[in-house]
This record gives sequence, structure tokens and C-alpha cells, in this order.
Amino acid sequence: MNVGILISGRGSNMTALADAVAEGRVPGARIRLVVSDKPQAAGLEAARARGIEAAVVERRGRTREEHERELIGVLRARSVELVCLAGYMRLLSPCFVGEFRGRVLNIHPSLLPAFPGLDAQRQAVEHGVRVSGCTVHFVDETLDGGPIVIQRAVPVLDSDTPDALAARILFEEHRAYPEALALVCSGDYRVEGRRVVRSSRQ
Ligand code: GRF
Repeated sequence: MNVGILISGRGSNMTALADAVAEGRVPGARIRLVVSDKPQAAGLEAARARGIEAAVVERRGRTREEHERELIGVLRARSVELVCLAGYMRLLSPCFVGEFRGRVLNIHPSLLPAFPGLDAQRQAVEHGVRVSGCTVHFVDETLDGGPIVIQRAVPVLDSDTPDALAARILFEEHRAYPEALALVCSGDYRVEGRRVVRSSRQ
């Protein structure tokens, strides 16, 4: 499976995926390309340091669809079949989602459907939940709303700031995303409505 990863920032989930693939923990996956919409994204250098091609596709005042058309072209030119969003800070339009239908994954720092959108860790602390976590899900036309592949939970402590909670969740993100990618690359699942069901449950 040829994988492309979209980032906008530091790229720690991208490096977690790349390292898992390099260590043989994601059979069948090959990371073809990392693309950022921000030229200053730290993740670009981290990708190159791992020998992965890293490109920038900026929005540059174009419409979302024009930007995504270029993005699709760049990904298709590398035969990308599966797209992983890893801190990519733009909403994808139906144009992109339709092009890679059922082939786009995202990671979100909450137990969806709780706290979609921005600043999920702050939302969790302010809401007073006792448990939060991360979710890897397929991307559809809804905001953080597609079928859930994997979730990992963490406690929320009385002393937590949004940053402290974010760090605890991030540790789990780095385990959850490679696990989800491995499942999707194995093809050992089917999507039934909103449910992602493993075909061979142990
Ligand atoms: C992560 O918390 C991820 O869940 C969210 O954006 C953050 C990206 O961090 N979508 P990084 O760039 O992967 O380090």
C-alpha cells in the first residue's frame, strides 16, 4: 500500500508512522511522500531525515478545490493509495474525500464523537471529563465524524492543564496510529455503516 502523509506542523504522528513502517510494524506499507501546506512545518525536515520525499503544496489564495486538485495530482503522481492526515490543519472538501473514498485516515486527540474540532484537549479539560484519549478514523464529509478504526483512552487528572493532557494523549496517538495503519493495510476489516469490523478477530 503506497501511503501519503499530510501535515501542517511538527509531524510527530508522521514520524511515528514512518518509524513503525521502517521497523516492519506495518506490513505492506510504503510511505511514498509527506506533504505540508505550510513551508515552515518542522515535520518536513523530519521526513527528509528519514529518507522520505517531502513536498510543500501551499494554498496561496486559491480556492480549497484548486488547492486540493494540486494535492491530488502530487499524491497520484507517486501512486499514493492511502492518505494519512497527521496534524493537517485544513478541512478537506468532498472533492478530495471523493477522490480517496474510504482511503483517508485522520487522528484526533479526543474520544470521538466527544470534542470534535479544534483544541480538543482544552475542550476535554474544561468539560470536566475524567477520561479522554485519541481516535483514528476514516475521513468522510463530516468534521471528525467518519467511521472509527481505533481509540485509546487516558485518564484526565485534577491537576491537568490542556498541555499536560495533550502530552498524555500524544503518547497514545503514537501507538494508535501505526496500529490503525497496520489494520487498514492488512485489509482485514470491513466497514458496516459506521462500524469498522475486524474480519478475523483474535
Ligand atoms: C495531534 O494531536 C493530532 O491528534 C492532531 O494534531 C496534532 C498533530 O501533532 N490532529 P503532530 O504534528 O503529529 O505532532
